[in-house]
Amino acid sequence: SPLEQTGQLSAERIVQRPRRLRRTAAIRAMVAETRLDPADFVLPLFAVEGLDEPRELAAMPGVRQHTKASLQRAVHEAAQAGVGAVMLFATPAHRDPQGSEAWNPEGILANAVRWAVEAEPGLPVVADVCLDEFTDHGHCGVLAPDGSVDNDATLPLYAKMSCTLADAGAAMLGPSGMMDGQIGVIREALDRAGHCDTVLMAYSAKYASGFFGPFREAVDCQLTGDRRAYQQDPANVIEGLREVELDLAQGADIVMVKPALAYLDVLTKAREISNVPVAAYVVSGEYAMIEFAARAGAIDRKRCILEALTAVKRAGASLIVNYWATEVAGWLRSQG
Ligand code: PBG
Repeated sequence: SPLEQTGQLSAERIVQRPRRLRRTAAIRAMVAETRLDPADFVLPLFAVEGLDEPRELAAMPGVRQHTKASLQRAVHEAAQAGVGAVMLFATPAHRDPQGSEAWNPEGILANAVRWAVEAEPGLPVVADVCLDEFTDHGHCGVLAPDGSVDNDATLPLYAKMSCTLADAGAAMLGPSGMMDGQIGVIREALDRAGHCDTVLMAYSAKYASGFFGPFREAVDCQLTGDRRAYQQDPANVIEGLREVELDLAQGADIVMVKPALAYLDVLTKAREISNVPVAAYVVSGEYAMIEFAARAGAIDRKRCILEALTAVKRAGASLIVNYWATEVAGWLRSQG
């Protein structure tokens, strides 16, 4: 029939057969354009003051709030697995309107930094620089009389906090509060205090995201309302690139896009305009989506985790902050 003839004819004429390079696992591995590497991973960890036993988070199955002992174990396991760095968040026993435990040299975050450095002196420790875990109102900065977050009054507090954490041994700081000018102010304070080697991993394009939801449980955040008056509108990409440029001009050593999976376009563009490494943070809600979907039997957990992390790297991330870091590092090692 004419149909069969056409079929035969066109089959003979197919010179380009992309499927040749997909035929076996060995060939696919050869031509893979993107490879995950544990050294690119940063593992976030939560320390809680006064905690007796590690506590699993209901909204983030598999992620725990740590005691000193369990934190040190997690840091050790991450280092053994080849994870590039750990990033610390901490919950204090007492909060106030200023968030003053944030710059207490004996406070929980400074202590957690010391514990992590003690556990693995060679592993870079990143400390979060933000007040939301420490303020009794849960905002990332101090409040003005009208209830808004006071940008300029918050900056010196970030500067103090940064010096405390660098003194405690943090090799890197992750300012995540989205105050204008924060990178420049922190850089200047660190340099004056003799910490000119402390790396600034700036949360540059950080969006006011619903995907931060489970993190609130992790740090027991007191926030009512939202952060839309200082974090970015999810609708905007040009604005995200402006934030990246401003942080680069103020001395950021690494710039970050956060969340990751819902913002791959921002990540690709940030990569194009940056002459420093670009990090992406696969946040708590992105973690929870995959974990709960897998638990419900809807998706293959391991496959989807690897696919998600590969997508983030393919889109332009040199560093991937993610809660699976140690586990995935183990998978990658056993692969080969
Ligand atoms: C602020 C901070 C947040 C996260 C990291 N740093 C919370 C927020 O901005 O609301 C979220 C991380 C995650 O969701 O995994 N200190």
